[in-house]
Amino acid sequence: MTIAVSGKGGTGKTTVAALIIRELMRDGPVLAVDADPNSNLGEQLGMDVEETVGDIREEVIEREIPPGMTKDRYMELRLQETLVEGESVDLLTMGRPEGPGCYCYPNYLLRAFLDKLVGNYKHVVVDNEAGMEHLSRRTTRDLDWLLVVSDPSVASLKAALRIRELSEKLKLGIRKKGLVLNRTDGGLSPLQEEWVERTGL
Ligand SMILES: Nc1ncnc2c1ncn2[C@@H]1O[C@H](COP(=O)(O)OP(=O)(O)OP(=O)(O)O)[C@@H](O)[C@H]1O
Ligand SMILES: [Mg+2]
Repeated sequence: MTIAVSGKGGTGKTTVAALIIRELMRDGPVLAVDADPNSNLGEQLGMDVEETVGDIREEVIEREIPPGMTKDRYMELRLQETLVEGESVDLLTMGRPEGPGCYCYPNYLLRAFLDKLVGNYKHVVVDNEAGMEHLSRRTTRDLDWLLVVSDPSVASLKAALRIRELSEKLKLGIRKKGLVLNRTDGGLSPLQEEWVERTGL
């Protein structure tokens, strides 16, 4: 199962992702992907992250590759090293996005690595950065579930609706979408309840 977690800042995306990962670990190996440049999924999972995919991407562009090694082999080895391996969960931390250089080639290599890597796991859970850029950049696609986390505030619920609308507009191959209400402390007000019903969130 492939699940991505999305939503407004501070609503509990990383917490929800970590809890889901902990449940899915009972069922088979999980690949946890921290796609937030301000990474902290590792902390929530109790896994130490030393370097990120972003660091490797920079390395491939800026540094000399060891003699006798091709760039793609080097990148594959380094990405493999970046993967933090746990009991039933491995963690890949994406880190900062690309800088101003030309990243087509490392991104192409990264895509190939990820496509191959995903096949080793029963479940993949992606914790995203707040907002919608991961949708507009189409890095969130081909999912079983897109879970949008919201607290009971109107701003957060509206952000959840915008995420749903954009994800539908962009035709991202998302099979199911769900709203996760966090920090409800007694649930929604009748007005909010009615709004959620009406919008179909
Ligand atoms: N239901 C909850 N009850 C109490 N505290 C919570 C709850 N959910 C999350 N938190 C706390 O709120 C803070 C923000 O949660 P979290 O980091 O999961 O949010 P986030 O949406 O991932 O934030 P960001 O947008 O910065 O990535 C954390 O300190 C977390 O422990
Ligand atoms: Mg987070």
